[in-house]
Amino acid sequence: MKMSKITVVGAGNVGATVANVLSMGDVVKEVVLLDIKGDLARGKALDTWQQAPINYYSTFCRGTEDYAETADSDIVVITAGIPRKPGMSRDDLISTNASIVNQVTKSILEHSPNPIIIVVSNPLDVMTFAAHQAAGLDSSRVFGMAGILDTARYRAFLAEALTVSPKEIQAVLMGGHGDTMVPLPRYTTVAGIPVTELIDGKVLDAIIDRTKKGGGELVKLMGTSAWYAPGAAAAQMVEAIVKDENRIFPCCAKLNGQYGLGDIFIGVPVKLGKEGIQQIIELDLNEEEMKLLNDSAGHVREVMEVYQNMDL
Ligand code: LAC
Repeated sequence: MKMSKITVVGAGNVGATVANVLSMGDVVKEVVLLDIKGDLARGKALDTWQQAPINYYSTFCRGTEDYAETADSDIVVITAGIPRKPGMSRDDLISTNASIVNQVTKSILEHSPNPIIIVVSNPLDVMTFAAHQAAGLDSSRVFGMAGILDTARYRAFLAEALTVSPKEIQAVLMGGHGDTMVPLPRYTTVAGIPVTELIDGKVLDAIIDRTKKGGGELVKLMGTSAWYAPGAAAAQMVEAIVKDENRIFPCCAKLNGQYGLGDIFIGVPVKLGKEGIQQIIELDLNEEEMKLLNDSAGHVREVMEVYQNMDL
């Protein structure tokens, strides 16, 4: 059954990649790519649709600047906002992106009463909080993409160091989408083998450190933030929902007491299916892991405070 309508807000590099990967996956009926620059959205959508006969899919992609065309979307991916430039942290984007995410979410809700919203805009954890507040939907329907991307970076680095296929690496990573994120070696396996049995501790530490700064590494190289892996990660979340797969991914979700944290959106493992977050999975973290998660939550709360003091 291929019935879903997906809206992607923002036709920049990340948004266009989400639309493209989703189209190639051929699991949804239609992708609407919306941007205030309507012609940019129309152009990228048309280009994506013209790929269909070559890459052999039927998902239709169209571009617009008009929210009316997003009506009755099942899932909305919000990538709108400005990306980082070298020297900036994700948190520096808050003053611009908070009002954009707020406005976008309200405009979406005018035309789609009960969508699932996946936030990709940065600073991710706080922008997810902002979208949830603006949407007024249950928190199982508003969450953020960060953990799949961050674990993908971690898994790619591990695959390279161990000269194994990235397909073999499974991992859990928690916390905010920033330098305080918490990769968890105790929950990292290579084809079921604990990674700690296969890799030197110092090499693993260096990989963890590189993972935490993974977004910044790309900003330095390109002068703007990444898009292929972020776009593919958001598309993977959409696919898990549309296919009701109950896949387990680290996502930015609202906690209500899990891990001793409340009133915060932060990365945790969740089960994703047709209703969005079907379950938040609570791991039995040890003291050191819990401390790292709490430190990360503290950092997210600092940025949240900046957001809450904004006059939106
Ligand atoms: C990154 C951006 C998308 O981590 O936050 O590349």
